[in-house]
Amino acid sequence: MDYQRIISKVYTSTLAKDNIGKVPDYIPELANIDEKKFGVNFTDLKFNSYGHGDFEEKFSIQSISKVFALSFVYERLGEKIWDRVDVEPSGNAFNSLIQLEADKGIPLNPFINAGALVICDILLEISSNPKEELLSYIRDLAEDDNIHFNEKVAVSEIKNSFRNTAMCNFMKSFGNITNQPEAVIDLYCHLCSIEMTCKQLSKSFLYLANEGIKPLSNEKILSSTKAKRINAILLTCGFYDESGEFSFLVGLPGKSGVGGGIVAIYPNHYCITVWSPKLNRKGNSYRGMKFLEEFTTKTGESIF
Ligand code: DON
Repeated sequence: MDYQRIISKVYTSTLAKDNIGKVPDYIPELANIDEKKFGVNFTDLKFNSYGHGDFEEKFSIQSISKVFALSFVYERLGEKIWDRVDVEPSGNAFNSLIQLEADKGIPLNPFINAGALVICDILLEISSNPKEELLSYIRDLAEDDNIHFNEKVAVSEIKNSFRNTAMCNFMKSFGNITNQPEAVIDLYCHLCSIEMTCKQLSKSFLYLANEGIKPLSNEKILSSTKAKRINAILLTCGFYDESGEFSFLVGLPGKSGVGGGIVAIYPNHYCITVWSPKLNRKGNSYRGMKFLEEFTTKTGESIF
């Protein structure tokens, strides 16, 4: 398969179409992004890597960081994390509080904000320096030390994190947050503020395409069962209340972020990352979804 040619064709045809949607303004620092940015990177398990457009420019990975945080905590604590967060699609927006009361403070999955806040609370319990530890975990996955927090973005989000703080307090009232909500929000917003390129993201997600093993170094990041399970949650919950649509149109597990990034995983083969800042109504990159839909249609490769 000539992936390079297919990526180039799909990039051009996506660029020629409408760029609908809006950059998020609820995190003021993210509202300043150039809406026309558009990058794609494909990296496979043999390290063939093809990029197009702005694929070497860093952007705010936002909720994509929830996958790294989950992997880190899951490998260390194992199945008991599921006592505090479930694995069901929510059918609601990523920042919805609505289901938490009925479920007594147990979030439906680790990718909605409430679930990621619980994962951050666990991180604070098991690490004395979770920010630095997570950053070095991600640098190791990407084999690249040039990955940092964006302090301005983190502070901008902390100052406006009224909904996330409400969720944290609410879950604490049920005993599902053990640390002070301020500390959980600080860690969560820092993880969301991490900046990476499409190329760094594709490479750093390869362990999920490779049964939990980091290719090249052969380092075990997750057991194969855990890698399978994270892929399953990515497929069913990675795009919040648009997870069904992403699965229907693209057919791969993946994760989006409000910075406009999407990483998709083709198990046993490759990862592909797209970045385009304008988001659709569900908070997922408009062009990112369009690109990936056409890409898996042209390649004929999906998990189905
Ligand atoms: O907590 C928030 O709202 C953001 N830091 C992350 C949300 C996000 O990326 C949702 N993804 N599409």
